[in-house]
Amino acid sequence: MPTTETLATTALDLSYVRSQFPSLAQAVNGHPAIFLDGPGGTQVPQRVIDAIAGYLRRDNANTGGAYATSRRTDAMIAEARSAMADFLHCAADEVVFGPNMTTLTYAMSRALGRDLRPGDEIVVTRLDHDANVSPWLAMAEDRGVTVRWTEIHDEDCTLDMADLASKINSNTKLVAAGYASNAVGTINPVKEIVRLAHAVGALAYVDAVHYGPHGLIDVAALDCDFLVCSTYKFFGPHMGVLFGKREHLKRLRPYKVRPNTNAIPNCWEWGTLNHESIAGIAACVEYLADLGRQASTRRDSRLGCPSREARPQETSERRAAIEAAYEAIHEHERALLERMITGLQKIPGLKIYGITEPARFDERCATLAIRITGHTPLELATKLGECGIFTWDGNYYALNLTEHLDVEKSGGFLRIGLVHYNTMEEVDRLLAAMREIVGA
Ligand SMILES: Cc1ncc(COP(=O)(O)O)c(C=O)c1O
Repeated sequence: MPTTETLATTALDLSYVRSQFPSLAQAVNGHPAIFLDGPGGTQVPQRVIDAIAGYLRRDNANTGGAYATSRRTDAMIAEARSAMADFLHCAADEVVFGPNMTTLTYAMSRALGRDLRPGDEIVVTRLDHDANVSPWLAMAEDRGVTVRWTEIHDEDCTLDMADLASKINSNTKLVAAGYASNAVGTINPVKEIVRLAHAVGALAYVDAVHYGPHGLIDVAALDCDFLVCSTYKFFGPHMGVLFGKREHLKRLRPYKVRPNTNAIPNCWEWGTLNHESIAGIAACVEYLADLGRQASTRRDSRLGCPSREARPQETSERRAAIEAAYEAIHEHERALLERMITGLQKIPGLKIYGITEPARFDERCATLAIRITGHTPLELATKLGECGIFTWDGNYYALNLTEHLDVEKSGGFLRIGLVHYNTMEEVDRLLAAMREIVGA
């Protein structure tokens, strides 16, 4: 449970937050469960569960029919699209739903590849999840396109931006880069990456799957051409969402069945979608917006006056609330991260991969990859799991990174993933359990 001090001084009302997530109340072997597995998928608030069940109970139908449940399904999907447009800061017809980020990226890579030929080049990075690498490599192989790799600075696991710039030239047609690393937590300078791509007329494709639960996504400010995320990483159901600039969605040719419409965004959606999950998406965005509304009220009462600047008129109330939510999430996660890193650094034989200096915390999110001498990541995850502490071991598909850092053959990393529903007490319990495992 949050301390009184935490409750009084942060914009996030942690007891409210935790009360929204029924799964957080579980116990394992008599220990309250601690969910540090967010990077693999976060827990969901009750309202998401209710929306999914409610849709199946009342509205279950295919789209485009001339009867009540089908019309309600169409309206529900339109509302979810509009919620995701607020979440991403784009127009609703630039929002494409799909089963997950990987499937959407394979589909988009096929469509983009249609216009590429030998001599064209694409850029990928060593830091990315493989879902933002393998689809591009497959397309490049099919089309005879050259692939250029961006390397990392090994000492802090950040992207080597000078190397990235040197790999971009007049033949570059696409730069695919992650917003944040799902292994080591590094946040990449995406706006700069987009600028470098656009300077040579290339497209920028951003994987924001790992960034989604930690930071505000603003495709308008980033000016990226495509951005993909997965709602199951930010408190929603198992679905993927792609933003594509309208001009690209209209210009590119999707592989599609003939009866499907040619109108965007539906022409980019294949077959019947998972409607019940789409119902959960709107509820998940509303959860975040409510968090922001509450956070603004708490912040105003802390400061004794309204603190938010006047918003431009085109920004919806929900978008402004989502922005406020992420301010509060960022503040809380930063405090958790600092306590976690300080505690981990005291454990003998423990190495943290990635940025550790608090002054540079804006360059990372609260996802930590560690190793401890004499213990494999699997051993650590298993022992922690027995105490009800859920972490992950291995490569989490950031395979090019674990191979590059030469940890792949010895079990990868142990990943500790903090999100906004975690507490200081959970951090302390994890640290105590780690000390016990290593005998410190
Ligand atoms: C950074 C990152 N990109 C892409 C993916 C793949 O997402 P999906 O499971 O929606 O295909 C993941 C999943 O863990 C991820 O963490």
